[in-house]
Amino acid sequence: MRGYLIAICLSAVFLYYVLHCILWGTNGYGSLPVEMKWRSKVQPCLLKPAFASLQRFHGLHPFLCADDFGGMHENNKFAMPYGIKKSMEVFRVALEKLQSCDLFEFDNVTCKKCVVVGNGAVLKNKTLGEKIDSYDVIIRMNNGPVLGHEKDVGRRTTFRLFYPESVFTDPRHSDPETTAVFIAFKPNDLKWLIEILGRRKINTNGFWKKPALKLIYKPYQIRILDPYIIRAAAYELLHFPKVFPKNQKPTHPTTGIIAITLAFHICHEVHLAGFRYNFSDLKSPLHYYGRATMDLMSKNAYHNVTAEQLFLKDIIEKKLVISLTQD
Ligand SMILES: *[C@@H]1O[C@H](CO)[C@@H](O)[C@H](O)[C@H]1NC(C)=O
Ligand SMILES: *[C@@H]1O[C@H](CO)[C@@H](O)[C@H](O)[C@H]1NC(C)=O
Ligand SMILES: *[C@@H]1O[C@H](CO)[C@@H](O)[C@H](O)[C@H]1NC(C)=O
Ligand SMILES: *[C@@H]1O[C@H](CO)[C@@H](O)[C@H](O)[C@H]1NC(C)=O
Repeated sequence: MRGYLIAICLSAVFLYYVLHCILWGTNGYGSLPVEMKWRSKVQPCLLKPAFASLQRFHGLHPFLCADDFGGMHENNKFAMPYGIKKSMEVFRVALEKLQSCDLFEFDNVTCKKCVVVGNGAVLKNKTLGEKIDSYDVIIRMNNGPVLGHEKDVGRRTTFRLFYPESVFTDPRHSDPETTAVFIAFKPNDLKWLIEILGRRKINTNGFWKKPALKLIYKPYQIRILDPYIIRAAAYELLHFPKVFPKNQKPTHPTTGIIAITLAFHICHEVHLAGFRYNFSDLKSPLHYYGRATMDLMSKNAYHNVTAEQLFLKDIIEKKLVISLTQD
């Protein structure tokens, strides 16, 4: 009887494994890439997403953790902003200030339907709020508010990507349900995080805009994005060169594209809202909030807006993602 049960269990495990390999098109041989970090809380979704062709490792844990940080890791081969080389110590100290590197606290939905909400003015008066709130995971970025814009952009925020120059400072924007995902572009960003969490005096030198002096997020809410995600955005999705010609400034992905890349790693279905811009009118509003106009975006030398718009157009046309604000 016992042998019988063991045989059933073994064949179930074997079937699961074969099914998983077939669905994901892996050969089942060879070890997982060193960057693949499965955690107990990341439930594998067995359905192949529409965008599977875009990425090498779906299901990668997207946040850095203090315990398995460093070691044999491709992150060591790249300096910031796409790796940790030469900045390991400051990453380590920052990670020690955090309380968790978990992905989802309650992970009852295995195949997640996600919406990435860009900050584009196209969201104005579309009353997409209720629709946006209906997704399993809602990813927002920077200081795109929900407060006062609920009808158009919804209320819920699962993840919000931020950096020192872009984070909310007004505590009215606090949301205890949000996980705040820190993107570190330069060593000063990590020093800022260490100072602000340690309630130390904040050195405001070395930022392109005055960084926040108070943080509306509590340590339990904060994660540090694995630079692997930004690397994948830059090299695999936007096809930026690894080395730029001497006469050309290197460009980096916007938070919006980084957010979409994060979604590709943790979601099964990805929808977008607020990613369409009207470049033909440079005086038209840039965001669904505030007063910034399109010319701010079009003269930005740090990003390659052309490459990003082509990428978005491509993934929408190929139906790898669905855009809620296309017409
Ligand atoms: C998921 O599980 C948690 C804890 O068991 C529960 O509080 C939460 O409401 C559940 N969420 C959904 C969408 O079922
Ligand atoms: C949105 O609606 C408000 C109020 O009806 C109106 O004043 C505003 O001009 C509209 N904005 C856009 C971009 O359509
Ligand atoms: C973009 O702005 C121009 C000039 O204001 C306007 O004529 C055009 O309809 C806009 N395009 C879209 C797609 O909103
Ligand atoms: C931006 O991307 C486009 C399309 O990939 C490319 O042709 C162009 O050279 C890039 N511009 C810069 C400044 O890197």
